[in-house]
Amino acid sequence: MSHDSEPQPLTASPGAALRGALRPPGDKSISHRAMILGLLAIGETRVEGLLEGDDVLRTAAAAKALGAGVERLGEGRWLVRGVGIGGLSDPDGTLDFANAGTGSRLMMGVVGGQPVTATFDGDASLRKRPMRRILDPLVRMGTQVLDEAEGGRVPLTLRGPREAIPITYETPAASAQIKSAVLLAGLNAPGITTVIEREATRDHTERMLRLFGAEVSVERHGEGGHGRRIALAGQPTLRGTDVVVPADPSSAAFPLVAALIVPGSEVTIQGVMMNPLRTGLITTLLEMGADIERLREREEGGETVADLRVRASRLRGVDVPPERAPAMIDEYPILAVAAAFAQGTTRMRGLHELRVKESDRLAAVADGLGRNGVAHLIEGDDLVVHGDGGAPRGGGTVATHLDHRIAMAFLVMGLAAREAVTVDDGAMIATSFPSFLPTMRALGGIIRA
Ligand code: S3P
Repeated sequence: MSHDSEPQPLTASPGAALRGALRPPGDKSISHRAMILGLLAIGETRVEGLLEGDDVLRTAAAAKALGAGVERLGEGRWLVRGVGIGGLSDPDGTLDFANAGTGSRLMMGVVGGQPVTATFDGDASLRKRPMRRILDPLVRMGTQVLDEAEGGRVPLTLRGPREAIPITYETPAASAQIKSAVLLAGLNAPGITTVIEREATRDHTERMLRLFGAEVSVERHGEGGHGRRIALAGQPTLRGTDVVVPADPSSAAFPLVAALIVPGSEVTIQGVMMNPLRTGLITTLLEMGADIERLREREEGGETVADLRVRASRLRGVDVPPERAPAMIDEYPILAVAAAFAQGTTRMRGLHELRVKESDRLAAVADGLGRNGVAHLIEGDDLVVHGDGGAPRGGGTVATHLDHRIAMAFLVMGLAAREAVTVDDGAMIATSFPSFLPTMRALGGIIRA
């Protein structure tokens, strides 16, 4: 995953029905947060089921560079010895987050609120992504930006204050990363730090802060109660604890849609987190007529999880409302693939945030659809996909732009299109779903290097 790694083209071909069971890797959002709160806690944090993808390993390395003891005990089992709020040390070198937007932005919140100085950098994808959205509130909290690349990008250097200034901040975009960066900086503020969001976004930071002993209150906010007002009492003592990471619904999405579109398939996906702020894709697929059963619902690590039994289904086009976007923000590439196999038109509304992901995902998805013979258009911030209920032509080579989810989405398309689909570079799949290839092959999928 170094910046200059060779591209790894991959080709997925249509084949027989997919069958079997799998457990997707640990949730990426929760894995990053476990490392970060482990660093800020006093004592030991033991993590089970950590996603050992490159993104999270970068966050683990950054936690270590800032003073934590970080040790791998076994597969997915990690021990973090924290330094406590105020106990961080200056890292020796640059914190290289490679492809990891979440890790870098959350850690900017940590560093921005503590008396340390650190330089953040990343790969060609991260160097294009906007960081002003994080730096703006941090500067109000007392962070100094010593150096930054043009337009508020990495590489950039932050120096945090002795104590952060508690603020009330209304996020300008529905972004859990902005919310989380402000709350993490607020951990070292004497007083209440408040974040107001117009649309509720994933709440893993709030939940995990409580698990580690912080006082966090959450109220509904705004019209229809879609927003949230989150208040954190600053300078708590965070205590190391046990964290069990449930399976990532954003990774589950790929085998799930594959099972829906490859005729005759039946696949069970185990232990998938069902946090309602993450299940927008399942809601949408059910509306499209997908056969998805939620089995064995249970609690794991403070979240509801379920096994999903998925059978190949005839899908129909639907209208996906913009207010659902935060609950499925990472799932639009794979939803667009599902829509290409559906009968009728699927309109996905309000996708402006997709333009600032690991790639411009709106453009990358549209381009990939076009190369594989799928009728579609972009109208403002909406993506419109027309399907005729049959398998699309396929046969295209898709540019992934260092984006793991573009790579996985179009490989899934290739398992069911009329002709094979190639992605120009599958290397980034290792950032979030390192076992994707063996997992899909074990189900019967044909994917070749
Ligand atoms: C994430 C938040 C989302 C999401 C990302 C993970 C998080 O980003 O796309 O993959 O863990 O907080 P935004 O906050 O930019 O929407």
